[in-house]
Amino acid sequence: MMKRKIILDCDPGHDDAIAMLMAYAHPAIDLLGITIVAGNQTLNNTVRNGLSVAQLLDMGTKIYAGMPQPLVREQLVAGNVHGKTGIDGPVFDELKRTAEQEKGVQFIIDTLMKSEGEITLVPTGPLTNIAVAMKMEPLIIPKIKEIVLMGGAYGNGNFTPSSEFNILADPEAAYVVFKSKVPIVMMGLDVTNQTICTPEIIERMEAVGNTAGKLFGDLLRFTLKTQFEEFGLEAGPIHDATTIAYLINPELFEVRDMYVEVDINRGPCYGRTVCDESNVLKRTPNAKVGVGINNELFFDLVEECIRMYKA
Ligand code: RIB
Ligand code: CA
Repeated sequence: MMKRKIILDCDPGHDDAIAMLMAYAHPAIDLLGITIVAGNQTLNNTVRNGLSVAQLLDMGTKIYAGMPQPLVREQLVAGNVHGKTGIDGPVFDELKRTAEQEKGVQFIIDTLMKSEGEITLVPTGPLTNIAVAMKMEPLIIPKIKEIVLMGGAYGNGNFTPSSEFNILADPEAAYVVFKSKVPIVMMGLDVTNQTICTPEIIERMEAVGNTAGKLFGDLLRFTLKTQFEEFGLEAGPIHDATTIAYLINPELFEVRDMYVEVDINRGPCYGRTVCDESNVLKRTPNAKVGVGINNELFFDLVEECIRMYKA
């Protein structure tokens, strides 16, 4: 099996942690590095959270701190969903791991510049790191094999009626990425909201009986409360894990080619991924947009990844 070389760019984040867990464990993925961005919480929190998850799961992958602020708008965090730390729920041991000296954006640029076009970027938070890397070194753009991102929606948003959090937290960065001509796979809320982790799913993953299964439970039990309070959802979706699942087995998803543009006008649709589902504009599609998921096989894959952790 050809391993898919990826850089995971995330804002841990409960569901980012599940994406990390799956990407590190599955043999179909070669996780080259993890870059962290401000999003669910401020950068000091998201970096600490990424390091804590990596330390708990004994992940050898290097972690790099990225952009602390969005490009233009005021900072937006999601403490209402992910708590004050950004990963409330699990209790982690004292943190001994540190982030690399190299900045996340520079790591993305350096890694891509040394590549032959075989690397996929997997952003599961705001797209600030990706956009800044593209602007700092445009030569990386043709070297990016694909961008498989969690963000946006062709339907309604979650942080405003129009906009999903990752895009709304840095609409201008998302605009740059969607205009870049790099092939994009967009796992939006239309698909990711179907990955709700009910108490039965949580018990199933905890029953694996290892550290990864316990982490899954500690993470998702916390979101049971906030997702209901904030969105009226029965439980927390693991939005970000859909990107890794897609890379491992794209057959789990139905995707549709669409032209997608991000609205950066300051108004009720600020940060909306405007998706031309009916191709009325006759523009060349720039994204494969997730429209369906095989939920049963998705959670089988999540459990399969959890079982790969021996401790
Ligand atoms: O809207 C869901 C997205 O926002 C997920 O990536 C979650 O981690 C938060 O960042
Ligand atoms: Ca995220």
